[in-house]
Amino acid sequence: MTKEQLLQKFEEIYGGAGEARCFFAPGRVNLIGEHTDYNGGHVFPCALTIGTFGAVRKREDQRLRFYSMNFEKNGVIESDLSELASGKKGDWSDYPKGVVWTFEKRGYHIPCGFDFLIFGNIPSGSGLSSSASLEVLTGLMLKELYGFDQLSMVEIAQIGQYSENNYNGMNCGIMDQFASAMGKKDHAIFLDTASLQYEYAPVKLDHAKIVITNSKVKHSLVDSAYNERRSQCETALKDLQKVCDVKTLGDLSKEEFEQYASAIGDPVCRQRAKHAVYENQRAINAVQELKSGNVEEFGRLMNASHVSLRDDYQVSCEEIDLLTELAWKIPGVLGSRITGGGFGGCTVSIVENDAVGQFQEQVGEAYEKQVGHKAEFYVVDIGDGAHAL
Ligand code: GLA
Repeated sequence: MTKEQLLQKFEEIYGGAGEARCFFAPGRVNLIGEHTDYNGGHVFPCALTIGTFGAVRKREDQRLRFYSMNFEKNGVIESDLSELASGKKGDWSDYPKGVVWTFEKRGYHIPCGFDFLIFGNIPSGSGLSSSASLEVLTGLMLKELYGFDQLSMVEIAQIGQYSENNYNGMNCGIMDQFASAMGKKDHAIFLDTASLQYEYAPVKLDHAKIVITNSKVKHSLVDSAYNERRSQCETALKDLQKVCDVKTLGDLSKEEFEQYASAIGDPVCRQRAKHAVYENQRAINAVQELKSGNVEEFGRLMNASHVSLRDDYQVSCEEIDLLTELAWKIPGVLGSRITGGGFGGCTVSIVENDAVGQFQEQVGEAYEKQVGHKAEFYVVDIGDGAHAL
């Protein structure tokens, strides 16, 4: 999608594109550190080069108009600044509306409405953060359109998360919005979600590629299962706080966890907390290994991450387990795991250059045979965070 195409469509939908401005915010893939971001742990995502594009223009009145080139049947969705407080309506515009609502809540007053047009090229239901990219896109365009110069990209990520939690009812952590807002070409972000301190780590794998495999399944009730995991971790933390002084599960080493784990009454909550603690340590170690050029060990830690997400955290599903098992069998696959929230979506794998063809062929064929539909493969290009076009 080029800026010209975006502006052309904008003009077609809203008339005279004179002062429209264009922005882009990417999706993300997380390399390791899954379901740790709402537990005060570490994550290691990178921004993709696919994402959401937007063109926008201020209006004189209070109207808000939304149009998505991905949902053309919906046409122009009309709303008004005064209607936002009544909550979500069940269509895609809930995401940008939630962000506008959060701006107001935080004291960034939006004095007049806008016409907004978007196009997204993140495959839907893939778990590569199309909603976070739309939130960050909206945050950036509001900052630029209404002149909130003091607003940082980190705060835009936080606004996106807040709106997702409080307007759209999904209790996600900060990872997706942070990666979309703060991504950097050819780097992954090693983020401590407790302090929001971060470091860019170059991802230059000389002899390997990062490959995303889309299972093309998304099981229902994902949001409620996600919220349930989160509250199980909170229950576990409360039990642990009776016997040791911790603010988050991310504060614990594996040894400390084993020492205090029996304080967690419910065995399922104990299992969830175990994943959060071990996965955080795995993410810390994995980044260290990558920095020392030990991609093989990074890959092994990815595999261990998958096993823990499958068995302890129980957010995988048959199709995704099949994809990882097929991948693990191929020589030249250094690591493969589920990525993102789970219950479908994608795996992320590190595959030696020479094996990429075989990987796609072998995994692709066997997957289609067993599941009945094709998987999709994308060789990852790590892009920059949200920016004006
Ligand atoms: C989803 C959420 C993130 C994170 C991941 C799991 O993508 O939006 O905040 O919790 O799941 O790591």
